[in-house]
Amino acid sequence: MGSDSIFLRGSLAKCDGTENIESDPFFRGTTKRGLIETLSSIRTMKSISNLSPRQITALKALVFALALLPLARLIWFGFTDQLGANPVEFLTRSTGTWTLVFLCITLSVTPLRKLAGWPWLARLRRMLGLFAFFYALLHFTTYIWFDQWFDLASIWKDVLKRPFITVGFTAFLLLWPLALTSTNAMVKRLGGKRWQALHRLVYVIAVLGVVHYWWHKAGKHDLAQPEIYAAIVALLLGYRLWVFLARRSRERQGAAPLRMGNSPQ
Ligand code: HEM
Repeated sequence: MGSDSIFLRGSLAKCDGTENIESDPFFRGTTKRGLIETLSSIRTMKSISNLSPRQITALKALVFALALLPLARLIWFGFTDQLGANPVEFLTRSTGTWTLVFLCITLSVTPLRKLAGWPWLARLRRMLGLFAFFYALLHFTTYIWFDQWFDLASIWKDVLKRPFITVGFTAFLLLWPLALTSTNAMVKRLGGKRWQALHRLVYVIAVLGVVHYWWHKAGKHDLAQPEIYAAIVALLLGYRLWVFLARRSRERQGAAPLRMGNSPQ
């Protein structure tokens, strides 16, 4: 960021609002917004070039394989009769836990990327988010298949009657628009701003996931695990709030709102 930032600040000081930078021949015909966008793209390209395309592909393949391990474990346990006395409960709990874990991992990409200076992490975010959706789908399928035997009336009754199921179901419904708009084509179609706004739903989903878990365990007076997830989600969302408030206060103080290729997730 350093040199770009200094260059950008210097350049922006030459222009007034979004008018053309007429005074300097180097910037003739360039608007403030154009300049920010150009520098932002340069910076994004630089960041991504931290790892070569081959390294990124290898990393993605590794993360993909690792993310399939919880499923492989369940399949292995199924074939070797290790799912315990209540296999449906085992499957539901395991897939539910992994949904929450992948939601937390997805939410930690941006803070880690910025705090540790690992820009390439952004390239893994979509895959991690889709794995959260994948495990939620398995979790829901286990429930409607082996717990409810596709009895739609009974499922609906359960969703309305048990608040923890209501909350889990709501989180699951909210995951759909994110999964369906995860492609590059959808980002283009919606436009960056609208896409980002929609994908902030992941914050709500993570909170609902924790509430769902908390409520489920509250009945059993066993909140040790939900408390850990609640703390992690609070930390990850607290980081966003802190960044947002810091940016707003900078903008209020009149500094140029430099947003260099940032995204909120
Ligand atoms: C984003 C969505 C969801 C997340 C993050 C999530 C997460 C979890 C977690 C962490 C557990 C507890 C695991 C444990 O006890 O160790 C759980 C349990 C459970 N979830 Fe979900 N869940 C979600 C959606 C749903 C949906 C849509 C349903 C069904 C409509 C559902 C039904 C259940 C049930 C029945 C249990 C209890 C399993 C048992 O103890 O027998 N969940 N979920």
